[in-house]
Amino acid sequence: MAVIRSVIRGVGAHLPKRVMTNADLAKIVDTSDQWIVGRTGISQRHIADEGERTSDLGIAAAKQALVRAATDPHDIDLIICATATPDRTFPATAVAIQHGLGITRGAAFDVQAVCTGFVYALAIADNFLKAGQFKHALVVGAETFSRILDWSDRSTCVLFGDGAGAVVLEAQPQHGSRDDRGILSTRIRSDGRFEDLLYVDGGPGSTKTVGHLRMNGREVFRHAVQKISGIIEETLVVNDFAPDEIDLYVPHQANKRILDGIAKRLGVDPEKIVVTLDRHGNTSAASIPLALNHAFEQHRVKDGSLILMEAMGGGFTWGAALVRW
Ligand code: UT7
Repeated sequence: MAVIRSVIRGVGAHLPKRVMTNADLAKIVDTSDQWIVGRTGISQRHIADEGERTSDLGIAAAKQALVRAATDPHDIDLIICATATPDRTFPATAVAIQHGLGITRGAAFDVQAVCTGFVYALAIADNFLKAGQFKHALVVGAETFSRILDWSDRSTCVLFGDGAGAVVLEAQPQHGSRDDRGILSTRIRSDGRFEDLLYVDGGPGSTKTVGHLRMNGREVFRHAVQKISGIIEETLVVNDFAPDEIDLYVPHQANKRILDGIAKRLGVDPEKIVVTLDRHGNTSAASIPLALNHAFEQHRVKDGSLILMEAMGGGFTWGAALVRW
């Protein structure tokens, strides 16, 4: 049966020039390269310059994705930006990206699901494309988490960084089988009972300030392994794939120990898991497209590759997307 699938035509990414190493951080807070690498796997992160906005990072990533997709920006009729660090409270950062790309048609809006934002945005774009409402979507994950970090809190400031990634999706007719190209399945979840375990202590509707990120790391860690393993298993079962049929796992990049825990629990070959957090830390909604872009540039993503993306973040929110390249 012929169906419409959202096929990924191109991927791109952008990291700010400025690099902050673990040694640089040790000059600001009581920490060490040994502690950060040992507990998280992170060696460095990129930090946006003053004046460099979330949308600037998103525009740079989007331009690369559009070139690789050989898609004219004017063909894009849907832009979704996943971000928890928008340029402004409003209008949406997606609209700034739309303007930066010279696009004046279609719709552009932001999605706020913190670290799961890219999976949420992918799911929304996929449903719009499958419904026939839009043809070409740009899905961006862009963050400047450096702006919401408490630089005196060593338990959080060492973990995060800035960056952006993007994909171009095109609605294409496919056969309706598991061998189809494109997004085969998305699953998104949330549970607000856990909102106080990972949050920002400010906002226009409460304190009228931007606020700083606060986290109970140990609890977030425990839930992350459980919830991510669960959503991966669910995705595999519903789509009738065995864990070893997945060619590449492209996870949200929060902590190497979380990725190792999930791999062990599900019996996944660690070689199949893309790890980039060592070079850019946790970039929230940007981390999956940054990792996908890295895998693409390393020629690990091939025509027909079956790719599973997953994430968990503040809310809690979590989700997974299964895609054939
Ligand atoms: O995208 C989703 C968002 N977040 C995550 O996925 C994060 C999930 N959590 C984690 O990754 C880990 O819990 C952390 C990396 C945040 C922390 O690792 P942990 O093994 O859970 O350490 P801990 O919080 O239990 O702290 C252990 C010790 C504490 O010292 P005491 O009380 O044992 O003396 C901390 O004060 O490590 C200390 N500590 C540090 N020491 C040096 C905390 N941060 C640092 C630091 N440098 N940066």
